[in-house]
Order: sequence, then C-alpha cells, then structure tokens
Amino acid sequence: ESETNRSNAWQGKKVLITAGPTREALDPVRYLTNYSSGKMGYALAQAAMELGAEVTLVSGPVHISPPQRVQLLKVNSAADMYEKVKQHYQDMDVIIKSAAVADYTPAHVHNKKLKKQEGTMTVEMERTTDILQFLGNEKTHQFLVGFAAETDNVMDYAKSKLTRKKLDAIVMNDVSNKDIGFASDQNEVIFLTKDGKEHSIPQSSKKDIAEAIIQLIDKELR
Ligand code: CTP
Ligand code: CA
Repeated sequence: ESETNRSNAWQGKKVLITAGPTREALDPVRYLTNYSSGKMGYALAQAAMELGAEVTLVSGPVHISPPQRVQLLKVNSAADMYEKVKQHYQDMDVIIKSAAVADYTPAHVHNKKLKKQEGTMTVEMERTTDILQFLGNEKTHQFLVGFAAETDNVMDYAKSKLTRKKLDAIVMNDVSNKDIGFASDQNEVIFLTKDGKEHSIPQSSKKDIAEAIIQLIDKELR
C-alpha cells in the first residue's frame, strides 16, 4: 500500500462497510453459508481508509486479513450482523453493504449434534432480517449503497432492489460468470444511482473496482 495514494478527501467521514458471508448454525458442528470471500468489502474498506475516512468494517468469517487502520467488528450470523449494523449506522456518512447475507436461517438450532437417519432430511428455514431494507427505511442523511448479486435479469433485479430498498446507489454484480465476482480476485460491475446514472466499471482487480466505486460515491456526495 503506497503512502502517495493517500489523500484526505474523506477525512472526518464515517464509513460503515459490511463484508463476507454469514454462517447460519444448524447444530454445534454444522452451518450454512455461501461462497463470498469478503475481498470486495475489504478492498472497499481499504479504499475508503486511504481517502482518510474512519472505517468500521462489519465482517462475516473470511480468510483474508483486514486493512490497517479500520475498526474490524467480526460477526457470524445474519442476526449478529444486523445487531452490529443497528449499533453503528446512525452516525455514519456512507454505508456500503457488500456482505452476502443469508436470506434464510435454520428455524431451530439443535443444541446436540444431529444424528443421521435413513432416508432424506428436511431442514426448516426461516427468513432473516433484510439489513439493507432496514437501513433504507430508517436512514436519515446516510448515503446508502447496496450490492446486487444476480445470475439472470441482472439489470431489472438490480433496479428493483435500488428502488425497493430506498438506496442511493447499487453495485450490480453479475455472478453468472464463474471467473469473476463472488470468490474471485477480479470483478466487473455496474454502478447505478437512484437518479438513473449508470457507470460500467470494466473487468479488473477488486482493488481497482473498489477505488472506482469509492470515487463514484465521492462524486455523488459533492
Ligand atoms: N442484504 C441484507 N440483508 C439480508 C439480505 C441481503 O442487507 N438479509 C443486502 C446485501 O448485503 C446486498 C443486498 O441486500 O447489499 C442485495 O442482496 P441480494 O442477495 O442480491 O438481494 P436480496 O434482496 O437478498 O434478494 P435475492 O437474494 O432474492 O435476489
Ligand atoms: Ca439474498
């Protein structure tokens, strides 16, 4: 990381970023999760920090080390992430929800290890709280950015999430291409704003994508 890249454009700004997957426990030894690596969220935290922002990074379990000079709050489940976000969102200037939050969690967490039986097994799942929807409903002044991971109808779904969740912008992530996105080092996204601007960020490293996203947010804040 180069000192020369650092500026003070976001000095005094408070930025909340969520990153990584969540883990939903089934029993003491098992959980449900997804392929998110956390790389996009960590790169965003780094890019915001390099502009001088005070960054709080709420992260699910990942295998990468956090950027220097960010406050790292580790969580496991979607419910944990919701709690941490609720504690911190109010005095933030910018909130970026890049985490891949579980939509469902097992309705019952067994306190003893489940034993196998003959035949199939059914797990009853219940919905988690949509943290981003909560933020869209509750926010006052915060610039709120969501992510949309889609495999089909990408533009339509992303635009409907932007409106429904009352976001200021959404980063559209086409996860149908296995070589980029989700668990990869590379990504390619489209940044959409609530007033209809569309910026394509061509395929590059997640570090470059993150810096471009932060620059686009900066432009919207001015
Ligand atoms: N999100 C969230 N809380 C959840 C689920 C999703 O905050 N319980 C956020 C994600 O962090 C992301 C955005 O919502 O910023 C979109 O997530 P995505 O999975 O693409 O959309 P969903 O609204 O969950 O809808 P679906 O999975 O059905 O496409
Ligand atoms: Ca989802």
